[in-house]
Amino acid sequence: MKMTKCLITGGAGFIGSHIIENLLNPGQEVVCLDNFDAYYSPRLKGKNTEPFRKYDRFKLVKDDIRDKVPLNRTFEGVEYIFHEAAQAEVRTSVEIPMKPHEVNATGTLNLLESVLDSDIRKFRNASSSVYGRVEYLPFDEFLPEQLSPYGVSRLLAKHYCRVFEEDYGLKNVSLCYFTVYGPRMRPDFAINIFTKADLKNEHIIISGIERIQGTLPM
Ligand SMILES: NC(=O)c1ccc[n+]([C@@H]2O[C@H](COP(=O)([O-])OP(=O)(O)OC[C@H]3O[C@@H](n4cnc5c(N)ncnc54)[C@H](O)[C@@H]3O)[C@@H](O)[C@H]2O)c1
Repeated sequence: MKMTKCLITGGAGFIGSHIIENLLNPGQEVVCLDNFDAYYSPRLKGKNTEPFRKYDRFKLVKDDIRDKVPLNRTFEGVEYIFHEAAQAEVRTSVEIPMKPHEVNATGTLNLLESVLDSDIRKFRNASSSVYGRVEYLPFDEFLPEQLSPYGVSRLLAKHYCRVFEEDYGLKNVSLCYFTVYGPRMRPDFAINIFTKADLKNEHIIISGIERIQGTLPM
């Protein structure tokens, strides 16, 4: 198999670290760019990347996608980008709307602009469920009215990606993930919280309604 060099933004996180694992195992070269954001424990992110550090084909770059200067240095020889870095969480975005905008929209635009001067063959953008208010069916994935600042920031990033293909010829695809779960998933995930509570036989709280484990309707 031909060795290619891939850059994974947000590679210390849940999905990014799985992508890295699946690229390193068959022999690819990987650059992981992550700012170890304190949204959830940076220690967990260190643990996620720990097994990769034994590979000399793995490089960890602690940088921020909002910062253009280090990005340009990171692209050398990179052919594929898996853009997973983001500020997640809908409710947090309602309290602090600027951060998801800066990371998800401006950060993605920053990356796209930087990529134009490089040899990137394809850019894969991790998008999200941007379905918003559904007023007709089947709905249009580019038009929905968003219900949160998070949704707006993700839809903006998706639009930027599409425009960069149309106007600048940058090949890319946006994948709308929907509740990905598994080992190393984010600690704030409902599936994670419910499973841990269930294992400890503790109460499970759903949207403010407290119910005792085992009494939930199936
Ligand atoms: N997990 C899901 O079910 C799900 C659903 C929809 C969309 N997504 C999207 O998939 C991608 C990966 O999700 P995840 O669950 O692995 O999240 P995650 O929070 O575990 O990983 C995101 C990583 O991005 C890093 N990061 C955040 N801001 C950054 C910045 N400014 N510069 C550099 N790195 C930064 C974080 O430190 C973290 O390691 C994200 O774009 C997320 O929004 C995930």
